[in-house]
Amino acid sequence: MENILIIYKSKYGAAREYAQLLGKALNTAPVSIDKARSQTVASADTVILCGGIYAASIAGLAFLKKNAALLKEKQTAVFAVGASPYDQETLEELKKRHLSGVLEGIPLFYGRGAWNEEIMTAKDKFLCSMLMKVVAKKPEDQCAPWELALKEAMGKKCSWVDEKYLEPLYKYIRKETR
Ligand SMILES: Cc1cc2nc3c(=O)[nH]c(=O)nc-3n(C[C@H](O)[C@H](O)[C@H](O)COP(=O)(O)O)c2cc1C
Repeated sequence: MENILIIYKSKYGAAREYAQLLGKALNTAPVSIDKARSQTVASADTVILCGGIYAASIAGLAFLKKNAALLKEKQTAVFAVGASPYDQETLEELKKRHLSGVLEGIPLFYGRGAWNEEIMTAKDKFLCSMLMKVVAKKPEDQCAPWELALKEAMGKKCSWVDEKYLEPLYKYIRKETR
């Protein structure tokens, strides 16, 4: 049986939920990035990172970069979790910006996460309110999908976590063509 390592970096729980769903389906316990070690990476055949998106950056990529040499020859994937609905263009941009250099070629998957200002840190709340100020002034037809999602979610508690988002990743792990 293949040795699958699922690592997650999650501030507010949605990326952890996806890691747990994956773990259940693949019969392996996910590991928080704080507990992940290079030795565990070395002994895995497949490495999957589930990371939240914060200000257009994917959490946990620094760990993959640090272990990039070990990832060669392994099946690796990144599953990013954001508030925005699925949008291929945004995903391509994220990929271009973050999965380059030593991480070039690692496939990127996406799942919609959650939104809850009540549990955000003061810093994140402030950052989101600043973002909101900018977005509020923009006409809707000029807003990116994540900006529209922010407008819609602000002041509400939402969870869009759904196992359907993991289907493309399951196919990739089973080595079916995407
Ligand atoms: C400070 C901050 C910045 C965020 N920036 C983005 C973003 O750029 N794009 C996006 O789709 N979602 C963004 N989000 C929403 C998060 O990606 C979403 O809440 C996700 O569920 C986070 O993963 P987690 O629940 O595992 O922490 C942001 C959230 C916070 C708090």
